[in-house]
Amino acid sequence: MDRPAHDWYRFVLSFPPHLVRDYADRFELNSNSLLLDPFCGTGTTIVEGKKLGIPAIGVEAVPLPLLASQIKVDWSPNPDRLKAHAQSVAERVLTILESEGISDDPDENHDVGGAANLRALPEKTMKLLLKGSISPFPLHKALALIEVLKEEKGSPYYRHELLALAKLLPSEIGNLRFGPEVGVGAIKQDSPVVSLWLSQVWRMANDLGTLSAMDETPSKALAGDARGMGELIAPRSIDAVICSPPYPNEKDYLRIVRLESVLLDLIDDRLHLRTLKKRLVRSNTRGVYKGDEDDKWIRSNRNIAKVAKEIESRRIALSKDSGFERAYHRVTKLYFGGMARHFRSLSTALKPGARLAYVVGDQASYLRVMIRTANLLAEVAVAQGYELEGIDLFRTRHATATGEQLREEVLLLRWPG
Ligand SMILES: C[S@@+](CC[C@H](N)C(=O)[O-])C[C@H]1O[C@@H](n2cnc3c(N)ncnc32)[C@H](O)[C@@H]1O
Repeated sequence: MDRPAHDWYRFVLSFPPHLVRDYADRFELNSNSLLLDPFCGTGTTIVEGKKLGIPAIGVEAVPLPLLASQIKVDWSPNPDRLKAHAQSVAERVLTILESEGISDDPDENHDVGGAANLRALPEKTMKLLLKGSISPFPLHKALALIEVLKEEKGSPYYRHELLALAKLLPSEIGNLRFGPEVGVGAIKQDSPVVSLWLSQVWRMANDLGTLSAMDETPSKALAGDARGMGELIAPRSIDAVICSPPYPNEKDYLRIVRLESVLLDLIDDRLHLRTLKKRLVRSNTRGVYKGDEDDKWIRSNRNIAKVAKEIESRRIALSKDSGFERAYHRVTKLYFGGMARHFRSLSTALKPGARLAYVVGDQASYLRVMIRTANLLAEVAVAQGYELEGIDLFRTRHATATGEQLREEVLLLRWPG
C-alpha cells in the first residue's frame, strides 16, 4: 500500500510512512495546514503529506535526495505517455549499443573483445567513486542511456526517467550493498541496464495511474541548509514539523549516494563535494572542518560537554590516536550546536502553537560512549524557547558493538510563539 512514490528512490533506514501518518493524525493536520520537513532526505514526509492531502515543504542540502524528493511529489506525467516515451528512449539506446556490438542481455556479450572501446568516466571523476562501485560493461550501458536521456531534457518525462536510473544504479546496475553503511559487494561483470530501467519506469507509470487523482495538494522540496530556515520559509507559516535529522553516527549522506550523484552530474569534483559537506549538520568525523564553530551554540549545556569529555577521556585512555578518533568529541558538540542553530532559525517560520516531531536514535558509535540523542536534543530545543511535550519510543535496535538495545525515539516539541 505504501509503495507508490515512496519506492521510487529511498535511503536505507529512512523512517516509514506510517510514522508520518501517526503524527499528522496526532497533530490534527489537514488540507489547511502546512507541514515542513527541514531534513527531507528522500521525501518520506512530503510524499506521505501529499497522499494525506496535507500541503508540505521539504528542505534538503544534498542534491541527489533533493532531486528524488522533488520528483517523488510530481504526479503530473501522463502514465501511458511516460511508458511510450521510455520505450522510444530504450529503443534508441539499444540501437546504439547494437551498433557497437553490445547487447543489453549479459548472456549475449561473450565476444565483445575487451573493455577498450567502452564509455567511461574521466579519471578525476572516477576517483570520487568507491573502487569497484560499477563494472565497465554496466557503466558503458548506463552512460549510453544517460546520453540519450540528456537529449530529452525538455520532455515532461525526463526527470522521472532519470530517477528510475538513479534508483537502480547502486545495487541492480552497480556493485554496492548497504548494511546499512555503503560498501562494495559481489562484482557483477554485466547487467541488463536498459531492460531494468524500462521496467522501473513502467512501475513508476503504474503508480502515477493511482497517484494522479491526488495531485492537487501542493508539495515541494527546496535546496537549503536547515540551519538557515529563516531565509527559506515564510515567517509564521508552518503548522507542524515531522522529520528525522542526522545524528552523530558517522553516517555520510554524500557517500551513500555517490555513484548516482556522480553519474547524474550532481557532484563534479572534490571541491564541490567539500562545499556540499559544509552545508550539512556535522554528524560524522569526515565532515568536520577547521573553521567549524557550531559548538559555540551549546557551550552552556553541561550534559553535552560531559558526553564530549567522556568520549575524549576514553580515547586518551585507549590510546586511540587517528585523526577520526580525535574528532569524535568535537563532532558530538558540533552536531548539537548545529541543531541549536536549526531550532533558532526555524522559530521564525513557525506559527505559534506549532507542533514538532524529531525522530532520532541513541548512539554509541564513539568509543562506546552512549549519546542519548533525543534527551540532549530536547535540552537544546528548550534552550531555544521550545516546549518539550514528550519523548515517544519508536523502536529499539540491537547495537552489535555494545550488545545493547539502542532506542530510536520521537522528540515532541511545541513552539509557544
Ligand atoms: C536521516 S536523513 C532523512 C531521511 C528522510 N526522512 C527520508 O525520508 O529519506 C537526514 C537528511 O538530512 C540531510 N541534512 C543534513 N544536514 C542538513 C542541513 N544542514 N540542511 C538540510 N539537510 C541536511 C541529509 O543530507 C539527509 O538527507
